Amino acid sequence: MSHHDPNEIYPVPEGRAETALINAERYTQMYRRSLEDPDGFWREEARRIDWMTPFTEISDVSWDKDDLHIRWFADGKLNASVNCIDRHLAERADETAILWEGDDPADDKAITYRQLYEAVCRLANGLKSIGVQKGDRVTIYMPMIPEAAYAMLACARIGAVHSVVFGGFSPDALAGRISDCESRFVITADEGLRGGKTIPLKANVDKAVESAGDVDQVIVVRRTGADVAWDETRDVDYATLVAGQDANCDPEPMNAEDPLFILYTSGSTGKPKGVLHTTGGYMVWASMTHEYVFDYRPGEIYWCTADVGWVTGHTYIVYGPLANGATTLMFEGVPTWPGPDRFWQVIDKHKVNTFYTAPTAIRALMREGDEPVKKHSRASLRLLGTVGEPINPEAWCWYYRVVGEERCPIVDTWWQTETGGALITPLPGVTDMKPGSATRPFFGVEPALMDADGKRLADNGAAEGNLVIARSWPGQMRTVYGDHQRFIDTYFTAYPGYYFTGDGARRDTDGYWWITGRVDDVLNVSGHRLGTAEIESALVSHDDIAEAAVVGYPHDVKGQGIYCYVTLMGGRKAEDEDIAEIKAWVRQEIGPVATPDLIQFAPGLPKTRSGKIMRRILRKIAENDFSNLGDTSTLADPSVVEDLIENRKNR
Ligand code: WTA
Repeated sequence: MSHHDPNEIYPVPEGRAETALINAERYTQMYRRSLEDPDGFWREEARRIDWMTPFTEISDVSWDKDDLHIRWFADGKLNASVNCIDRHLAERADETAILWEGDDPADDKAITYRQLYEAVCRLANGLKSIGVQKGDRVTIYMPMIPEAAYAMLACARIGAVHSVVFGGFSPDALAGRISDCESRFVITADEGLRGGKTIPLKANVDKAVESAGDVDQVIVVRRTGADVAWDETRDVDYATLVAGQDANCDPEPMNAEDPLFILYTSGSTGKPKGVLHTTGGYMVWASMTHEYVFDYRPGEIYWCTADVGWVTGHTYIVYGPLANGATTLMFEGVPTWPGPDRFWQVIDKHKVNTFYTAPTAIRALMREGDEPVKKHSRASLRLLGTVGEPINPEAWCWYYRVVGEERCPIVDTWWQTETGGALITPLPGVTDMKPGSATRPFFGVEPALMDADGKRLADNGAAEGNLVIARSWPGQMRTVYGDHQRFIDTYFTAYPGYYFTGDGARRDTDGYWWITGRVDDVLNVSGHRLGTAEIESALVSHDDIAEAAVVGYPHDVKGQGIYCYVTLMGGRKAEDEDIAEIKAWVRQEIGPVATPDLIQFAPGLPKTRSGKIMRRILRKIAENDFSNLGDTSTLADPSVVEDLIENRKNR
């Protein structure tokens, strides 16, 4: 075991500051200006985007819960697909826009900017031909194939609002997301392919559409060529749809505040929220953070391993890199197939310069030892990144030392679906790194800490509390689709005048930020966000389950594991089969990402006399921390705690 000093500093690697887009002096000066003269700062920065009608207004924001609105560059007009494609044609039409690496290592494909233009225009025209109009919501349920990016950009081109649903979600979860935004169109594939296994996407859509009701058309990409059920009146073959279409499609001029996409994410209560991002501010944020955080230079090969079903895939596979004319690598497979060296093999094969992945993947690969990494040269790498959950110093150091050979800075980027892009992050030529710290705020970002009573803690010196952001930034979400009140309640009510992140954080004496994890009932399992309430409602929808409570517990690879306390109907005792049955049930209800890790059967759950489940106690027991259960005297029946402790599950 190596020793980790939490304040150990890894300086910017030698020579880096001299060549980086931003150095320390420039960061300080730009950061200060972004707070002191925000209008001037953003007026200049927003010019990185091509506007069809230039904006004259900068921001019009109120976080007052009685008049909550967020508008940036509101009188400007633009089109996101033009920014990601058309504007690069003059200079780099024949350069690779999307470098696709298939699940099978023999399968790959380079799509140039010109080819991307034609593919997107054909699909955009195809969508119009089946009746998709500006403002319509289009659900995208796809594997990681170029058509997923074409679909997003084709929607953007005609002003349709895409809602990408991760291919690992179940038919039920998909149905909920289709009906919440009243989406009448779905784009999918016959099957997905990951780690040599197929995923029945079209069959899942068929089931979802049955319960979601009002879907008019389902467009199907033939990925594996599998035989799938076909409804002649509803299903449309992708290849046939685009075949006869014109390879040009006039882009729809969109107002800066017109919606670009909806992306569902889990919160602490109720069903997933449709996070809505608009066009202008989001594009500015995506492009700007991609350029500065990854110190991106034209010609570089950039690889973000996320899935387009998550926000990281939206901002850092599609919109950010393409807005900057980058070559973005899109990977269909998994890190461990056909072997545990797949990532490193792909890095050498495509000469990847920037590699951006999640702590859970780093931890899983670290377990395989150094040999699979060292088998490949990784000579092309110049920057590493991580996102999705706090990275433990062990994993950070392995990533830095073994993968990056101490020459690549690591950008530990803290952000959320809601924030659109990175908010707290190192910049490669600026920030000395500390393993596990997301370090410092990006331009225009003013983080702050709140105590339990809603008091803002001093902005200098060491402090710990709930993380809020004190002012708007262009990439911020604008509302919860169809439920503006929920937007206000979730983010702007706990601390009036601030955006509440749901995370806890610590700031050290050097002014570095350390994210300590969620302070609400949201779990972060392998970097995937899941609400405990969602899993609980899946559990209690099973006929045999009377009651359930779900909490997280520390898990070596996943970061957090899913711990379920379950009471069966009629006080029935659990059999071995019950565990398998319940796991399968949750997979079917939500999807494999939500599969419970540990299930403990409990005759009763700890409740207050008013019937509220005391989750704090359940969390402590799941964490194997019995010393600190706190006050149990308010429990209706204190003896249930004894039983829970006695039967605590370890595997
Ligand atoms: C967590 C993913 C620590 C955090 C982009 C946040 C992180 C949630 C980091 C958002 C990081 C993300 N360090 N924690 N670098 N990045 N998180 O919406 O708890 O899927 O609130 O967005 O992930 O997850 P989401």
